This record gives sequence, C-alpha cells and structure tokens, in this order.
Amino acid sequence: MPPVLTKTLFSKGDLERPEVQAFFCGDERWALEVSEWIRFSSGENSALEDMKKYGTEVWLHWKEKVELVAVSSLGESKWSWPPPKGPKKLISVIPCVGLQRLFQGEPKEAPPEDRFAAQVLDHLIYEAKAKTNREPLIGLMVDEENKRAVRFYEKAGFAHLVKPHVSQGVTYLRMALDIS
Ligand SMILES: CC(C)(COP(=O)(O)OP(=O)(O)OC[C@H]1O[C@@H](n2cnc3c(N)ncnc32)[C@H](O)[C@@H]1OP(=O)(O)O)[C@@H](O)C(=O)NCCC(=O)NCCS
Repeated sequence: MPPVLTKTLFSKGDLERPEVQAFFCGDERWALEVSEWIRFSSGENSALEDMKKYGTEVWLHWKEKVELVAVSSLGESKWSWPPPKGPKKLISVIPCVGLQRLFQGEPKEAPPEDRFAAQVLDHLIYEAKAKTNREPLIGLMVDEENKRAVRFYEKAGFAHLVKPHVSQGVTYLRMALDIS
C-alpha cells in the first residue's frame, strides 16, 4: 500500500517554513512557475495573492507529515459551457498544481491511480464536488509543451476543449473534467 498523503490548508505563516521555500518542481518554465507561485509572497505569480484576490484555496500535501510532496489549489471561474458558445457558467478551476520533482511518477510500484499525483487530483475532485454553487466541472489551462501534465490530465479523464488560450507567446490548452 503506497503512503497516503495528508494535507494542510496553506496560509501566510507557511511561507516561513523551510520545506516551502525549498519547494522545487523542476527546471522547465511551467515547473519553475509552480515552485515560485507557492514561495512568492506577492506579485502576479503568488499563491498568497491569488488567495487574497480571488479566494483561491491552496493546500500542501505531506508524506508522513514531514516531507512536502505537492501543492494544489482550487478556484472558480466563469467558462462558456457547453463550449465554445454556451452561456457563462461558474465552474471550479485548478489555478496551480505541482509535485516536487523527487515525487513525480512516484511511488513507481503503485498503480497509477494510487500514485501521489493521483492522490492530489482526487483531493481536488473531492473539494470541487463539495462546491454545490458551481457546475460539476473542473477546468484548467496547461502549457501545450508540458507533455507530462497533458498526459496526466488525459489519463485522469480530462477532455480537450477547442479554444486554446494564448498569453505572452505561450499557448495554453484548455481541458475540463466532468465530475457529476
Ligand atoms: C503534472 C504532474 C502533477 C503530474 O504528476 P506525475 O507524478 O508526474 O504524474 P504520473 O507520473 O502519474 O503521470 C504522468 C504520465 O505522463 C507520462 N509522461 C512522463 N513524461 C512524459 C513526456 N515527456 N511526454 C509524454 N508523457 C510523459 C508518464 O509516463 C505518465 O504516464 P504513464 O502512467 O502512462 O507512465 C507533475 O509532473 C508535476 O508536478 N509537474 C511539474 C509542475 C506542473 O507541470 N504542473 C502542472 C501545471 S498545469
């Protein structure tokens, strides 16, 4: 049986924890973004700012309560549903999620549905299901070059939506998961 991760709600005080300041998802641009997002206390790419501005919920995921494995988050947004021209509906979104490099693909011996990444996603699905004021949908945007994440979401059942989002020269694929 793989270790079951525990979670804590992220708050300002966590920024002083060495585990948070050492959080590292990898060197790729999307991985650096996630690491900085949890470590930065202000600016456009900051978990704390997203919490203040948009009410985003943010969690830390721990192995044996001491090793920081992952960060995850859930927010809300209005998306046209059904895409591309349906009325705007309030849905859950994942603004940012990431596992430390060391824990990606782990535990290798566990079936994919029990791996750490799947445990983190299960937690977000559980939280999103509890938001009864929102459509039973989870949306996200992922850098089209982030093949590993795209594959992970596809395997978890996320469907590709037609219209990608382009920002500062980067193309983000839109994906959504029906959690009804
Ligand atoms: C995205 C992320 C959460 C997925 O977690 P993970 O532990 O890596 O996921 P898994 O290993 O269970 O699954 C990834 C799948 O992609 C596959 N994969 C790995 N590298 C790949 C690549 N370069 N191209 C295509 N598929 C790839 C894996 O083989 C695996 O598929 P498999 O189960 O068929 O072997 C994690 O990689 C991560 O935190 N990345 C850095 C931050 C990030 O990109 N966050 C997402 C922002 S939207």
